[in-house]
Amino acid sequence: MADLLIQPSRGLHGAITTPGDKSLSHRAVMFAAIAEGTTEISGFLTAEDTLNTAKAVQQLGITVEGLGTDRMLVHGKGLDGLSEPAGVLDLGNSGTGMRLLAGLLAGQNFFSVLTGDQYLRKRPMARIVEPLRRMGSMIDGRSNGKLAPLAIRGGGAALKAVEFASPVASAQVKSALLLCGLYADGVTTVSEPHKSRDHTERMLRYFGADVAESGLSVSVRGRRPLTAGGPVVIPADISSAAFFMVAAAVVPGSDLLITNVGVNPTRTGIIDILLQMGADITLEKERDQAGEPVADVRIRHRPLKSVQISGGVVPRAIDEIPVLSVAAAYAAGTTVIRDAAELRVKESDRIATIAAELRKMGVQIKEHSDGMEITGGSALTGTRCESHGDHRIAMSLAVAGLAARGETTIAGKEWIDTSFPGFEGLLRKTAS
Ligand code: S3P
Repeated sequence: MADLLIQPSRGLHGAITTPGDKSLSHRAVMFAAIAEGTTEISGFLTAEDTLNTAKAVQQLGITVEGLGTDRMLVHGKGLDGLSEPAGVLDLGNSGTGMRLLAGLLAGQNFFSVLTGDQYLRKRPMARIVEPLRRMGSMIDGRSNGKLAPLAIRGGGAALKAVEFASPVASAQVKSALLLCGLYADGVTTVSEPHKSRDHTERMLRYFGADVAESGLSVSVRGRRPLTAGGPVVIPADISSAAFFMVAAAVVPGSDLLITNVGVNPTRTGIIDILLQMGADITLEKERDQAGEPVADVRIRHRPLKSVQISGGVVPRAIDEIPVLSVAAAYAAGTTVIRDAAELRVKESDRIATIAAELRKMGVQIKEHSDGMEITGGSALTGTRCESHGDHRIAMSLAVAGLAARGETTIAGKEWIDTSFPGFEGLLRKTAS
């Protein structure tokens, strides 16, 4: 395990771009594989998670040119063009890779096995396995299908379209069912308690699928071909930009521009929450790119105040709550986060891990089963921290260290490569 050493910063400055959006990168390579024709993808995230998905797509018989670079050509073979993989598909650390592929593979006529690393093999799979079984696929896994590895015999011609009300607001669950629904006769409908990210809906439409939305429900009509049309241009990941946004917000003297950031309204909870905390953020050059809104984000330091985070904004900021906890630690007053029990089943139990690590730096935190109360405003002290095998915990602690007293050491920096290779270099360049 390698250490990341962080010194206090005198301010973050300049114009930077963060790597391509992870959610969009997974989807682009999967959807292009089942579209008819060749799709050019640019801005693809060349991190471990998304490269594992692209390799899985290759194992399903699809030619991917440029793998390992951010510009790829995917030679799609249409809905029925995938072939049975000879080996196990290993999605590494990625919940999105595993759950979305499980949905796609549940629609096929063949057998496949999905596995992942020690962290992914602990994450809940029943949330997709049960509804996918209901659609007519046979899926087994450890603990009767609750945990990966998952063995999938797709439903093929026997698939049934379903109406499914998901108890959790999860784009991974929604997307898995919509992908399987592409193969079922009739209309598959998924509803959720709050709106989760809608990249699947937007991108499936971009590939010509018949997708309809009504309130918190999304439907797809099955057995309609997808077609490679325009190029897929992936913007910078707002979830990666979030580390730099919070860093610039909390380190005095900062003035930072992050260019080409995806600002899909189902992802911008981080901006709304920081604005509520009093941060100085402006969106510039707002534009549309391949069906997704994009902007440049400027952020300058300004003292922050505490905030309440609950309800519908939680899924819109779910991956940013660890770094928002860091913002809360530097904000005056007590920030209350509720309705966020999903954090307990991410790459780590993010309520337990961020609370434990920020406490080591001197922050007062009370844990709830579905959130935290973070009392901010006192100085943080740099110390030795753990990443807990979680990229976003490691990067959040790096941000905490930039505004702390003394040096912060984060053990396990290699986990950052699952989503943000180059994070350390970009931080060193930006935060003098
Ligand atoms: C993702 C959905 C979210 C998010 C994850 C990426 C996606 O997970 O936490 O990092 O790309 O669909 P859930 O849908 O499980 O909440």
